Amino acid sequence: MNPAQTLAQPLKLPNGSELPNRFAKSAMSETLGTIDNRVTEDLVTLYRTWANGGTGLSITGNVMIDRRHIGEPQNVVLEDDRDMELLKAWAASGKVEGGQIWMQLNHPGKQSPKMLNRDPVSPSAVPFRKELRGMFATPRALSGPEVEDIVARFARSAELAEKAGFDGVQIHGAHGYLVSQFLSPHHNQRTDEWGGTPEKRMRFVLEIYRAIRAATSDGFNVGIKLNSADFQRGGFTEEESLSVIEVLSAEGIDLVEISGGNYENPAMAKGDGQVKASTRAREAYFLEFAEKVRARVSVPLMVTGGFRTSEGMAEAIESGATDLVGLARPLAVEPDLPKRVLAGESITSAVRPIRTGIRLVDNMALMEVSWYTRQLGRMGKGKAPRKHDRGLLSLMEVLGVMTTRGVRTRLRAGE
Ligand SMILES: Cc1cc2nc3c(=O)[nH]c(=O)nc-3n(C[C@H](O)[C@H](O)[C@H](O)COP(=O)(O)O)c2cc1C
Repeated sequence: MNPAQTLAQPLKLPNGSELPNRFAKSAMSETLGTIDNRVTEDLVTLYRTWANGGTGLSITGNVMIDRRHIGEPQNVVLEDDRDMELLKAWAASGKVEGGQIWMQLNHPGKQSPKMLNRDPVSPSAVPFRKELRGMFATPRALSGPEVEDIVARFARSAELAEKAGFDGVQIHGAHGYLVSQFLSPHHNQRTDEWGGTPEKRMRFVLEIYRAIRAATSDGFNVGIKLNSADFQRGGFTEEESLSVIEVLSAEGIDLVEISGGNYENPAMAKGDGQVKASTRAREAYFLEFAEKVRARVSVPLMVTGGFRTSEGMAEAIESGATDLVGLARPLAVEPDLPKRVLAGESITSAVRPIRTGIRLVDNMALMEVSWYTRQLGRMGKGKAPRKHDRGLLSLMEVLGVMTTRGVRTRLRAGE
């Protein structure tokens, strides 16, 4: 089979629904909500662009389940049906070419910047590394009833997403946000029923999964994005990740997306010069871990991070390591990449490292993320992404927007 044929194969998920091809757009936080976190037409336009570009599954950027806890200004928050009409348009736009659209649901926990949140929460009150303390406050530990409330909120948001026409939801269990904080022995030092052993640390995600299933119909897809590991001393390990995947697979989860890292070690957004030679040869950062998962369970897998050529993508599918090729940054630059590969073009993504040379900024991949966010904003306005946009410009713009919108968000919250 050539890459086009390999990647054009449909994929059946455990609940019986079918994806038309092997391209999945991984979540990218669009920050295209309004200042009070409502849905906008820009999101509708953006997801239509990706659907027209041939992506078989689009996973939205993280949608927050609680307006008091957001990760960035202009995240969308989904707590009630006030935006139902626009949500319906958003869901419909992701399906115009027969693909599916899932909503990623998230609670940032401690990774909610000071600028937006005076009262960040986490399983335990563990401070950030020194360099990040200017940006993130030490969180307070959640009470038991608060934990239960968050579980119920995930279910409520999933129910609303289904009502709007989304084909599924993805629990954001990766990148150091709340679900991943509960899984990590470094961030979760509780001794009640939510921590203390790997099984108890896993309980939070399991309860969320079960509550979402109970609140949605049988044919609705539920997936998770999970770290292969945190790459942090005392953090979530590969072995723990494998057992979470085993448990969720036994529960019937439809898709597991594999990623890695958190704000303190952003392995998910590496530049091409920052990965081992053996990883470079296979492109994607987490394929070796995916093979370990394969050896244990048969759940459909999506591997995200580092795919850059049509050949590398096809080879990852043919080798059996993954079922879906997860793409984020390549689709922020070339939204029609899947369609071109499916038409037989051999493609190397135009994605390139975006660095300032300032260690703290580069370590957090701040400019990298802001540069791509800017391209999403352009597409939301119906414009083409700009492959040679200046890095520093987008960083300054995003920092400016973060500051003014952060202040406005807090003013609205009455602080
Ligand atoms: C601008 C931007 C925003 C992102 N937002 C999210 C997000 O909301 N949720 C998430 O799970 N991952 C997010 N990611 C990480 C990507 O989904 C992906 O894991 C990472 O970029 C590696 O894949 P790539 O090499 O194809 O870009 C984001 C990445 C970028 C560049």
